[in-house]
Amino acid sequence: MPRPFNPDKIPEPKDLRPFDPPKGNLALEIGCGVGYHPVQFALENPGIFLIAIERTKEKFEKFQRRYENHDSPKNLYPVFGDAIPWIHHKLPDHCLDQIFILYPNPYPKSKHQNRNFLNMPFTQELIKKLKMGASLELATNSKEYVEAIEGNLKSLNTMGLKLNEKKVIPKDFKWRTHFEKKYLERNDECINLFFRYHNRNQD
Ligand SMILES: C[S@@+](CC[C@H](N)C(=O)[O-])C[C@H]1O[C@@H](n2cnc3c(N)ncnc32)[C@H](O)[C@@H]1O
Repeated sequence: MPRPFNPDKIPEPKDLRPFDPPKGNLALEIGCGVGYHPVQFALENPGIFLIAIERTKEKFEKFQRRYENHDSPKNLYPVFGDAIPWIHHKLPDHCLDQIFILYPNPYPKSKHQNRNFLNMPFTQELIKKLKMGASLELATNSKEYVEAIEGNLKSLNTMGLKLNEKKVIPKDFKWRTHFEKKYLERNDECINLFFRYHNRNQD
């Protein structure tokens, strides 16, 4: 069970642009790396507005170039910086239809599991941003990460997030991100966890 989330400890985001969430379908990608997935997703889903956040400068710069090389899709909003302050300060509660966390940096040692997305205190805050029925998809090649999330399912359930599907990604899958490509090519087992946010009282 993650420690309670303490909003007083979250600094202001570095990105100072005001953000007004557009009406309609809203998605968020945390740690999008060099941005292959957000650009493809935005092009393939013109009816969905995607916010994609990356905190590593070199990766973000590649993402930004990819975004501009694809005519800066109007439904894609790249954000440079740490996702946690941005989400906390810029997003109202219950505004998101979809979250992607694809191959987040894992902290495999058991004592550091609470630094991982879905095991960290911030999870409570992230879940609050979901609309009823919204989805959250997390992919990883780390068995320890999956085991730690599975050990935490009861607490996620209490917060309204329910694991709907756990799937091993087939080796011939059309990769979505550069890390997915790398891991599948070297025969790592990649797992996709698909959650849905539901009414806490429903089972
Ligand atoms: C292993 S890489 C995966 C990148 C991409 N999703 C992919 O699959 O190719 C993880 C990325 O998450 C980013 N990241 C980790 N924690 C983050 C945070 N709190 N806010 C924004 N980006 C974060 C890292 O900078 C890194 O680029």
